[in-house]
Amino acid sequence: MYSKFAQQYDEAVKDNIYNALFERPNLQAMLGDIEGKNVLDLGCGSGVYADYFLSEGAASVTCLDFSAEMVDIVKNKFGQRVSAYVQDLSEGLPKEADGQYDVIVCPLVIHYLKDLTALFSDVYRVLKPGGYMVFSTHHPFADFECSTTGSYFDTELVQEEWNTVGTPVQVTFYRRPLVEISNAITSAGLSITQISEGQVSEAIKQASPKTYERLRKHPNFIFIKCKK
Ligand SMILES: C[S@@+](CC[C@H](N)C(=O)[O-])C[C@H]1O[C@@H](n2cnc3c(N)ncnc32)[C@H](O)[C@@H]1O
Repeated sequence: MYSKFAQQYDEAVKDNIYNALFERPNLQAMLGDIEGKNVLDLGCGSGVYADYFLSEGAASVTCLDFSAEMVDIVKNKFGQRVSAYVQDLSEGLPKEADGQYDVIVCPLVIHYLKDLTALFSDVYRVLKPGGYMVFSTHHPFADFECSTTGSYFDTELVQEEWNTVGTPVQVTFYRRPLVEISNAITSAGLSITQISEGQVSEAIKQASPKTYERLRKHPNFIFIKCKK
């Protein structure tokens, strides 16, 4: 979906509820000060996070995504101000040198990876000592609704129809138990320092009282901060 609908995705996430009003404010609240930091944006999409890092005074911003169309949008938007290239994150970060990043983000991406081992091992390798990663993903409790095996502890490829880009699209992703995510983090040597299930803001209530009520009662995303 992200390659075929890259432009539509870019337009939709500017001001929609799930990305602009829910995911980004909650992830950004866990980021801390970005000024002067070297930042790596994994699964950068069309660059909404890169835009934020530049406006917050990051020293450098590097953007990676599997989709060449997304990487092109980022290059067109920001030119030389960011470094952007195509990378399948299931293979880790083979082009990145050790110990160079202060901050890594990976918003709404890891559910597209079958195995998290290579990614988290390389996140540890490329972070500076004391550096940290913040990522978001589907809440394992929420994704259990899509299970076809009926076992929460299975990792399985599931499918759902989403309307993010203004037209219904079938999206496939992996659902997995929380312990598989935490094991990938800690086995890589990282320590989990914060977990959030997202605050639901007044802005969401104004935009859609129905979605506000749903998000207040049902977890949708999980946000995890981990440190080297
Ligand atoms: C939901 S979008 C999130 C984009 C961006 N982080 C944001 O918050 O707007 C998921 C992104 O993950 C990328 N992606 C999916 N599988 C990937 C993989 N194996 N390696 C790298 N990126 C991947 C998609 O191309 C897409 O841009």
